[in-house]
Amino acid sequence: MINKEFLIKYEEFSSLQEMNEKDRALAQAAIDAAKGSYSPYSHFQVGAALLLENGVLVKGANQENAAYPAGLCAERTAMFWAGANYPGVPFDTLAVAGHDHGVLCESPSSPCGGCRQVMAEYQKKAGRPLNVILVGSRRILKFRQVDDLLPFIFASLKVE
Ligand code: THU
Repeated sequence: MINKEFLIKYEEFSSLQEMNEKDRALAQAAIDAAKGSYSPYSHFQVGAALLLENGVLVKGANQENAAYPAGLCAERTAMFWAGANYPGVPFDTLAVAGHDHGVLCESPSSPCGGCRQVMAEYQKKAGRPLNVILVGSRRILKFRQVDDLLPFIFASLKVE
């Protein structure tokens, strides 16, 4: 038996001002996108802003349903819309911002497992890393690739 470790690298910022202009604009777009949330059940509004490699910005927000599982997360509404309307265009960066009762959460909202798996699919399809930015009012995290949010990704699992 061998004990092994998995190192995850990410960047942490304490404000939008610390970020470069491109990432700051995307983080702000994710905050704005939360206005499109339909969340009468959880009162938790999530906005997602997805920058495509061709420069197009796609926004998404969580959409809930009285039959709970029928709803969809903000990240997937953005990714599926982009996949459907810009087929084949790689994703560059996805920013996510969670709001509780309309107020941006202090800590970054972390994407659910289902959304991470969907990110992994598009990243693999694109053949390039998808950056992910998780926005909170006190902390913002930036991951360089989906692998850092979803270690041992199903699609690319090669156990060495
Ligand atoms: N939600 C997202 O939009 N993204 C996530 O990654 C996690 C959760 C939504 C789903 C639901 O509408 C609300 O947040 C509360 O779970």
